[in-house]
Amino acid sequence: MIEACVFDAYGTLFDVGAAARRAAAEPGAESWAARWPRIAADWRRKQLEYSWLRAIQGAHCDFWQVTQDGLDWALEAAGLDDPALRARLLALYWALEAFPEVPAMLSALAARGQRRAILSNGSPGMLEGAVRSAGLSGQFEALLSVESVGVFKPARAVYDLVAATLDLPPGRVLFVSSNGWDAAAAAAYGFVTAWVNRDGAPMDRLPGRPAHVLRDLGALPDLVAGL
Ligand code: LAC
Repeated sequence: MIEACVFDAYGTLFDVGAAARRAAAEPGAESWAARWPRIAADWRRKQLEYSWLRAIQGAHCDFWQVTQDGLDWALEAAGLDDPALRARLLALYWALEAFPEVPAMLSALAARGQRRAILSNGSPGMLEGAVRSAGLSGQFEALLSVESVGVFKPARAVYDLVAATLDLPPGRVLFVSSNGWDAAAAAAYGFVTAWVNRDGAPMDRLPGRPAHVLRDLGALPDLVAGL
């Protein structure tokens, strides 16, 4: 039986494309509007690459730093030198939207008595900002950040935070992530795992295979009820 659902944050609960998309909808952003999908994809890819490389190097910094570094790389690759745009994108990233199905999904889990927490690369400040701006304050008993272990996912020390904080064995935890590599690592670690495959991506060829695959988070309460 599952006693707690533990969610990845960026891409799973919070829409990481929303910062670039919202900036594109603002007045005067016509040239950005045509270019943002590629730049946003580069931004996310570099942010994650830097997190993995820093974990391997033993050169940790917080996720806000790799978020800025990834954006700087993506803007330079696109030939953009626009400090106002950079500042606007970072402000929007701090206050991301949740995916539309998230509030009702969390309420349904709460109604079933499921414990709920976040386990994320995000710094404590980033996670608090995102939860508040998405209107999800009070929905989680813990916002677990990698900052307390000083290394990024998928290091096992990060997943250890769940048992240490919630006092539950991995088999009682449903770990939920839209990041295929995070879902694979969580499954290898021993969590019951649901991969939220929003884009129809192939399964990552890594150790560990998520037991469940969902298109979005809407079906999660029914999945949990059947486990
Ligand atoms: C996180 C990244 C992986 O929230 O999206 O941990």
